[in-house]
Amino acid sequence: MTASIEIRRAEAADAAALSHFAARLFRATYGDDTPPADLEAYVTKAFRPDIQAAEIADAGAAVFLATDGDMLAGYAYLVVSPSPSDASLLSRIYIDAAWRGQGLANRLLDAVVSECAARGVKRLQLTVYEKNARAIAFYNKVGFVPVGSTTFTVGEDVQRDIVMERATR
Ligand SMILES: CC(C)(COP(=O)(O)OP(=O)(O)OC[C@H]1O[C@@H](n2cnc3c(N)ncnc32)[C@H](O)[C@@H]1OP(=O)(O)O)[C@@H](O)C(=O)NCCC(=O)NCCS
Repeated sequence: MTASIEIRRAEAADAAALSHFAARLFRATYGDDTPPADLEAYVTKAFRPDIQAAEIADAGAAVFLATDGDMLAGYAYLVVSPSPSDASLLSRIYIDAAWRGQGLANRLLDAVVSECAARGVKRLQLTVYEKNARAIAFYNKVGFVPVGSTTFTVGEDVQRDIVMERATR
């Protein structure tokens, strides 16, 4: 049941738990398609308590958590564009496997979209690995449309990402 799940802004005290959670979900999401050394190189670079602490403290970003008591069920990381006329970036949105398909991703996205609206940001953009069918299905369902493609480098593995965008209202 997701009734017990709270969506809230991450705080400094969440950084260590978030970094471990984010590393675990990144490995689970990309482990099948990415050489292990490249996966670990990315995890080492992106997920560490001090790195997530900096992301949480960044006034130009917002981190939202879905929590079940002391446990993390999901998170979203928004990087706000310096200019409201540019699209902001939904850099990460992850739900733990046990909680997928229950509307939590929608609730996290609502928090992200509200934050964008509060900051006057009109467009939200993201990039998604072309082989990540479930994430693409979710983004299509919640109004994102493809606007281009780019690359995303995991270690030394260069992967093709689809760029998607939607309005924030
Ligand atoms: C992407 C993510 C946040 C979406 O959350 P979710 O709870 O799974 O989202 P939903 O279940 O509401 O929507 C996913 C849709 O994909 C569909 N789907 C499920 N499994 C699928 C699969 N293997 N392939 C394609 N579509 C699939 C679902 O049916 C659902 O659509 P529906 O509600 O119309 O039936 C979540 O799946 C996740 O954390 N994935 C791993 C991390 C990740 O990929 N993050 C995004 C990185 S860009």
